[in-house]
Amino acid sequence: MLSQKDYIDLINRTLAEISYPDNLPGLYQPIKYAMESGGKRLRPTLLLAVSDAFGANRDYAVWPAVGIEIFHNFTLVHDDVMDNADKRRGRLTVYKKWGVNTAILSGDAMITMAYKCMAGCPPECLPEVLEHFGAMTMQVYEGQQLDADFETNDDVSYDDYIRMIIGKTSALIAYPCAIGAVIAKASEKDVQNIFNFGVSLGIAFQMQDDYLDVYGDTETFGKEIGGDILNDKKTWLHIIARDRDKSGEFKALLGRKLAPQEKIRQVTAFYDRFNLRNEGKKLIGKYTDDALSYLYATSMPAENKRWFRDFALRLVAREK
Ligand code: IPE
Ligand code: IPE
Ligand code: MG
Ligand code: MG
Ligand code: MG
Repeated sequence: MLSQKDYIDLINRTLAEISYPDNLPGLYQPIKYAMESGGKRLRPTLLLAVSDAFGANRDYAVWPAVGIEIFHNFTLVHDDVMDNADKRRGRLTVYKKWGVNTAILSGDAMITMAYKCMAGCPPECLPEVLEHFGAMTMQVYEGQQLDADFETNDDVSYDDYIRMIIGKTSALIAYPCAIGAVIAKASEKDVQNIFNFGVSLGIAFQMQDDYLDVYGDTETFGKEIGGDILNDKKTWLHIIARDRDKSGEFKALLGRKLAPQEKIRQVTAFYDRFNLRNEGKKLIGKYTDDALSYLYATSMPAENKRWFRDFALRLVAREK
């Protein structure tokens, strides 16, 4: 296996091989902008690392890995429209820079590009890879729809929240793991276990993202802090605070018309009162442990398991 940095370099080198026609900058410039703005390259790294861990020839997994990253970036381009987000990776979002119509169409083109890259897997794996990829994309759309519906629903439970983030976030982590294993011709049991590893890791990852949306540092995180509060997102922080508050104060606060910065300040103060930072650490720890138990159940060599364990522990403690 390679180091995390070497996987990222390989992904970025492969992405750089994609040439964009220069006759339609209105369509292609935003795609280049989105793809070249950095990012952790988490999902393609997992796909490549899983296929390596189960003994595949790395060349077989490189284009599917890039396809996953392009699809992920498409979801971000559209997500920033849905979330009214101005900033991503420390820069203006595509829709802020070029408008909603550009975000729609360049995003659409990215889905097609992603499919073409997925088809770069060995031909005998193609039907299975495309089946996983198709299932993944639908689950992301379903999760994103639930996330949007929940903005105006005050009864969202913790379990509803977990179901929603399994769709919008875990799918894009679990399926790349499964696809890496399929390309390596791993056993069905290994495919299932590494998929489940990705589901639990995805939950922990999104919970940390929700935490950073409140308690992160804009410079490091690259996104505006407090967006979830302004959009009335039903994050775990919101749900736990709402359920713990017996005084009705939280509900009253949310019903008040406040200037954006003041709303962020007051809701954050409410979260502080319930010591949600600690609560979150415990929950994230639990889902990370679940992920690790699925990892340990795979048949990959012990040394490769350690690679994923270290990767997962760094990921869920991230600040960016
Ligand atoms: C952002 O994903 C979307 C979420 C599921 C939270 P990442 O945090 O992986 O975004 P980049 O690609 O590193 O910018
Ligand atoms: C993102 O959830 C999930 C997808 C983009 C599919 P968020 O809306 O929390 O992601 P960020 O915080 O904007 O990156
Ligand atoms: Mg969103
Ligand atoms: Mg968002
Ligand atoms: Mg977020």
